[in-house]
Parts: sequence; structure tokens; C-alpha cells
Amino acid sequence: MASITFAFKALCVSLLFIVVASRPTGRPKVFNVQRHGSKPDGKTDNANAFTSVWSRACRRESGRSKIYVPKGTFYLGGVEFVGPCKNPIEFVIDGTLLAPANPSDIKQDTWINFRYINNLSISGSGTLDGQGKQSWPLNDCHKNPNCPKLAMTMGFAFVNNSNIKDITSLNSKMGHFNFFSVHHFNITGVTITAPGDSPNTDGIKMGSCSNIHISNTNIGTGDDCIAILSGTTNLDISNVKCGPGHGISVGSLGKNKDEKDVKDLTVRDIVFNGTSDGIRIKTWESSASKILVSNFMYENIQMIDVGKPINIDQKYCPHPPCEHEKKGESHVQIQDLKLKNIYGTSKNKVAVNLQCSKSFPCKNVELIDINIKNNGLEDGSSTAVCENVDGSVRGKMVPQHCLN
Ligand SMILES: *[C@@H]1O[C@H](CO)[C@@H](O)[C@H](O)[C@H]1NC(C)=O
Ligand SMILES: *[C@@H]1O[C@H](CO)[C@@H](O)[C@H](O)[C@H]1NC(C)=O
Ligand SMILES: *[C@@H]1O[C@H](CO)[C@@H](O)[C@H](O)[C@H]1NC(C)=O
Ligand SMILES: *[C@@H]1O[C@H](CO)[C@@H](O)[C@H](O)[C@H]1NC(C)=O
Repeated sequence: MASITFAFKALCVSLLFIVVASRPTGRPKVFNVQRHGSKPDGKTDNANAFTSVWSRACRRESGRSKIYVPKGTFYLGGVEFVGPCKNPIEFVIDGTLLAPANPSDIKQDTWINFRYINNLSISGSGTLDGQGKQSWPLNDCHKNPNCPKLAMTMGFAFVNNSNIKDITSLNSKMGHFNFFSVHHFNITGVTITAPGDSPNTDGIKMGSCSNIHISNTNIGTGDDCIAILSGTTNLDISNVKCGPGHGISVGSLGKNKDEKDVKDLTVRDIVFNGTSDGIRIKTWESSASKILVSNFMYENIQMIDVGKPINIDQKYCPHPPCEHEKKGESHVQIQDLKLKNIYGTSKNKVAVNLQCSKSFPCKNVELIDINIKNNGLEDGSSTAVCENVDGSVRGKMVPQHCLN
């Protein structure tokens, strides 16, 4: 017994040694962009200076690198920061990064794009100013096939073990932050702002991602605060304020072929203030893919004058008429959904809308302690609508539930 304990201790000590020894030690090598050719005059394009600093930081063989953007306004055309890098990189932004006001001056999908990187950490008291105002009126893609392409503010693709802390994103042209195939990523203390009527300015959008945590974040935009798309799993959202905006949306799903399941979502301690929707799941009618949306938990959520506080819409069709309308019911299966302690006020009488697919009815929807009152703009008390839902209820129920 004693020798086993000893062997175990020896193992622990050597493991500890390995962990400590392999951690990059000492202070990072600092690359202050202003000392490497960037000008904080608000008009010189610093894109080349930034990318050359990035490649020097990224190529270093050992030790951490820190790219530092000091206070000041750094105008930046489109930039791409591409890995793989040999070591972790800290990107500290205390200044303002200013996007071109003219959208055609950004010749890529995303204004600031990170790709193929591990162990990246972005932080600072600075601001990403997308200068979207001039491009919002040009956003008419739902009726104009030749509409101009507008860039998202910051994108991450094939990025692992990374995080963003504290920075502010202001007035994006399209979405603010976009994540594709990103795994193990934390977003915390971030502020995201655009006017409530600015089109398609999603706060955080992600697809094919896993193990993402979003916490202590404040989002007010003209579209979804958070949009969760195909193939996203193990997403944890807590302490988020959302409003104005379209709420925390899963979907829209099912429109395209080859979509993947969306699973294991936790949404906790949220305030929706003046949003059009709160908790939202939208799937296209007659979808091209048959996928599963499952194991979602929504808990401790306050609704303040929210248009549609709880809204499952499996007949999604944003710009009718939709050809899908003729073709039948959604093939997206929604199941194992728990909604617990959801309270506050609804702008519409229908505070709870559970409109599921006739072909694939929602399964195991649990409602526990729901208390959402009509805020008084419409007469009468709040109501619930159920279509093709199977589930259970427990605790307080306002509006009166409609599950059978
Ligand atoms: C990232 O961190 C992990 C865990 O600390 C380490 O194994 C890996 O080598 C790091 N990669 C880079 C590129 O720094
Ligand atoms: C990132 O993580 C995913 C999922 O864990 C993995 O498949 C992929 O190889 C990782 N990428 C890199 C560059 O380490
Ligand atoms: C994310 O946060 C969790 C919990 O605070 C922590 O354990 C994890 O290491 C963080 N991951 C990254 C990539 O920062
Ligand atoms: C909700 O939004 C309104 C209008 O912007 C604001 O006055 C109010 O303080 C907000 N309430 C909370 C609890 O954040």
C-alpha cells in the first residue's frame, strides 16, 4: 500500500514537473505596432504593418509573443492573420481599430480574420469600429441579387484553445464576430453594439463549433445577439445581456444540404431587454437536411418587453412567399428541451410559441416555472400556442400551458 502511494506521489510530482516545464515561461516578447511602422492617425492604412508584425510574432520559435496596439486610432483595411504559429500569441488592443467607411474598400468577407491558430488570446480596453453606418442602407440582399457584399468585423476559422476578453465591437457592417470550426474558445467581458435598426448586424455567430463559452457579455444589435448554426455542440452561454436585437437564436436550420446536428446548449442567467425574440429556434419548412436539435437547457432568464419571449418556429420564412411553403413540413427534429425559471413581460399576447413540425413533432419539452405576463400593450393575459409538441410541465405556469 505504502509503495503504491509512494509511486502515485512520485508520478504526480513528475507530472507536475512536466506541466510546469512545458508552460511557456517568462515574459512575452512584445511587438508594439506603433514601433513597427503603424500610424495612429486614423487614415494611413496599417494593414501591411499589422500583418508583418503578425508574421514575425507567429514565426518565433520559442516563448510567447504579444502584439500590442496602444491607445490611438489605427485605420485598417482588410487584414488576415494566418497560422499555424509556433507559440501562443497575445493580441492586446487598447486603441481603436478603424474600418474603412466605404464597404468596397474591404476586399474580403471579414475585415479582421484569424485562421489556423491555436492558443490565441485577444484582450484589451480597445474598440473595433466597423463604421457600418454608410453600408447599412446598401443591405438589400433579400430583394437584390446584385447587392454589395459587406464584411463582418472579426472572424475566426479553424482556431482552437483561444479566447477574447474585454474588447468592444462597434457598428459592424454585417455581423460583429463570426466563428467557423472553432473549438475550445472563451468569450468574456465583451461589449457588442450597433443600432437596433441596423440590418444583419448579428453579435456573435457560429457554425461547426464546439466547447465555446460566452459569459459576462453585453450585446445590443439590429439582428441576433447570438446566432447558433449547423454543427455547433457544447455551447455554454451565461450572464449575457441582450437588447436591442433578435435574441439568442438557434438557426435558421435545415435550409441547406449537409447541415449537422446542434446539441448540448446551456443558456443561463440572461436578460433580454426590448428584443424582438428571446429564446428562439427557427427551422425552414421542408428542409433539405434531416438533423437533430437536442439537449438544450434554458434557465434563469428575464424577459423585459420582449416581442416573442419563447419562440420555436419550424415554419421559418423571413421573406414570404417561400417556395418551401408548398413543400411541407420541417425535417429538423427538436428534442430534450428544458426551460426553467423564465419570467418577465411579453410585448405580444402570445408569450410562448411552440410551433413544431408535423412530420417530426418536438419531443420531451419540459417547462418548469414559467411566468411571463403580457406587458399590457394588448388586452387580456398572455397565452401559449402549441403545435405538434410532446412534453411536461412543473411549477408556476403563466401563460397557461398548452401541452397535452
Ligand atoms: C497550445 O497549448 C497547448 C496546451 O498548453 C500546447 O500543448 C500546444 O503546444 C500549444 N500550441 C501552440 C501553438 O502554442
Ligand atoms: C482543433 O480541435 C478540433 C476538435 O477538437 C480538432 O479536430 C482539430 O484538429 C484541432 N485543430 C488544430 C489545428 O489543432
Ligand atoms: C475557458 O474557461 C474555462 C473556465 O473558466 C477554463 O477552464 C478554460 O481553460 C478556458 N479556455 C480557454 C481556451 O481560454
Ligand atoms: C432596458 O432597456 C431600457 C431602454 O433602453 C433601459 O432604460 C432599461 O434600464 C433597461 N433595463 C434593464 C434592466 O437593463
